[in-house]
Amino acid sequence: MKLGLAVGGSAAVGTVAAGLASTLLQTSPARPVDATLFYTRFSTPQWWNTLEGKPINVTDFAEWQGATGVWGGAFVDGKWIAGTGYPVLVIRVKRDDSVFSAPTDVPVPSGFDLYYDDPARDIRLVVVYDRCAHLCCYPGWQVVQNPPPARDYTSPAPTYQVFGLDPIYCICHGSQYDPMLLVKNINERNGVEFVGPSRVHGPAGRAIPVFAVRAVDDVLHAAMVDPRWYEYC
Ligand code: FES
Repeated sequence: MKLGLAVGGSAAVGTVAAGLASTLLQTSPARPVDATLFYTRFSTPQWWNTLEGKPINVTDFAEWQGATGVWGGAFVDGKWIAGTGYPVLVIRVKRDDSVFSAPTDVPVPSGFDLYYDDPARDIRLVVVYDRCAHLCCYPGWQVVQNPPPARDYTSPAPTYQVFGLDPIYCICHGSQYDPMLLVKNINERNGVEFVGPSRVHGPAGRAIPVFAVRAVDDVLHAAMVDPRWYEYC
C-alpha cells in the first residue's frame, strides 16, 4: 500500500493505515502537511482515467480542463482506495485577471498559495476540496451535461456568463461553484472563515474550500490552509 503523502518534504511510502493523513491533520493543525496530489479514476470515461495513481503535473491540463484527484489518499497497485484522503478537483482556469479574483490577505502555509499561478507559461490552477457544501456529494467539472446545470445563478458566474462554460456542478441537487471567483465564506459547522469558489447556485449555501498549492518540479503539491476549512462532511 502506498500513501500519497509527504511530510516535511520527504516521501512517506510504506505500510500505513488508510486515513493517516486526516488523522495527522486533526491532531497537528499548526503544521502544514505537504502532500503530492494523485489522479483518481472517474466513474465515466474521462481523459485522466488512465492516469489513476500518477502524480498530477501542472502541465497536464489544457485551458479549462480539469480532473479528479486525491490529497493524502492511499493506493494499492496504482488503484486508489476509495474513502482515503481528501478528494479534490483540479481545474485549469483561464488566466484572465480582468475576471478572476481571489483574496490576497489570507495567510497560507509558507511556500504555498491559494491557487497555482505561472505567468510565464500562462497556467493557473485551482484545487478545491471535492465535497459539496450541501450534503457532501462530489461535485464535478465539465463531466455531466444531462441534466444540464441550471443557469439562474444567484450571484455573478463568470465562468458561464463570460466564457460559456458551466461552473463546478453538483448533480445531486444542483449546487454550483465558480472557480474564477475565490471568495471568503464561513464554515457554518465551526464558524471559521475560509476561501473557495463562489457558490453561484443552491441549494448549497456557501462555497467549498480550496487547498493551498505549490509545484515541485512541476508536480502539484497541496496543503490544508487550516484543517477546520474542510470539516463539514
Ligand atoms: S449534495 Fe451537492 S447539491 Fe446537494
